[in-house]
Amino acid sequence: MVEQGFCKAQVASSNLVRGSQSSIAQLVEQVTVNHPVPGSSPGGGVSKKHIMEIHAFSKPFCYFYVENFYNETELDLIWSELEYLYSNREKIFVSNLKSATYEGEILKDNVGIFMDDFYQNRDYSHILNFNRKLFDIYNVDTWFFKHLNVDKDGTLLSYYENGGYYKPHYDGSVATACTWLFKEPKRFIGGNFSFPEFDIEIELKNNFLICFPGQIKHSVSEVKLNPEDAGYGRWCISQFLNHR
Ligand SMILES: [Fe+2]
Repeated sequence: MVEQGFCKAQVASSNLVRGSQSSIAQLVEQVTVNHPVPGSSPGGGVSKKHIMEIHAFSKPFCYFYVENFYNETELDLIWSELEYLYSNREKIFVSNLKSATYEGEILKDNVGIFMDDFYQNRDYSHILNFNRKLFDIYNVDTWFFKHLNVDKDGTLLSYYENGGYYKPHYDGSVATACTWLFKEPKRFIGGNFSFPEFDIEIELKNNFLICFPGQIKHSVSEVKLNPEDAGYGRWCISQFLNHR
């Protein structure tokens, strides 16, 4: 991976305060502060041991990723929501929802829902509450993100089982943040993320967020999962960031 323009910060989510020595931490407010979408109420228990690790890049383009994005309490509640949604997937999930296309070809094979449409009130969803955390950290110290000042997002929950993929495409967002989740131990191969125009591939990691400009082409390699391991595939929480 290209690491030019690299900067890194370890951020303890229980202690995100302005004025610390880290240039990134200075940009980060407490995780329960930002309410960019009316009705949101982030938080839900912050483990004192939880540390997010933020890696930001300015070359060959601006993007950043966050390891260990959610804390244990948040993950437990998110997984309970994913289990419920998966258990009712035939009624809830839609195939290839609003997929990118190229010359009439649908570029992905997965299922999902737009969470903001699914819930009448976003407070009913752990995922839609906890993913407010992105607004506390996205102003990383790169020219694109530092003053981006997006003030709304839409959340697409996607699930990739055996054979799932997403071919190279652009998003209609100003920026997109994808958070990856899967059950451990991992039972599939593939599902890696790429920026093919820049020959950058990022191996799939659990509880990992990557954020990039929507006009940077990106893709997901095919997931290969044994049929008996159905339900152990690749989840992605995509937040499409925009200005109102
Ligand atoms: Fe995309």
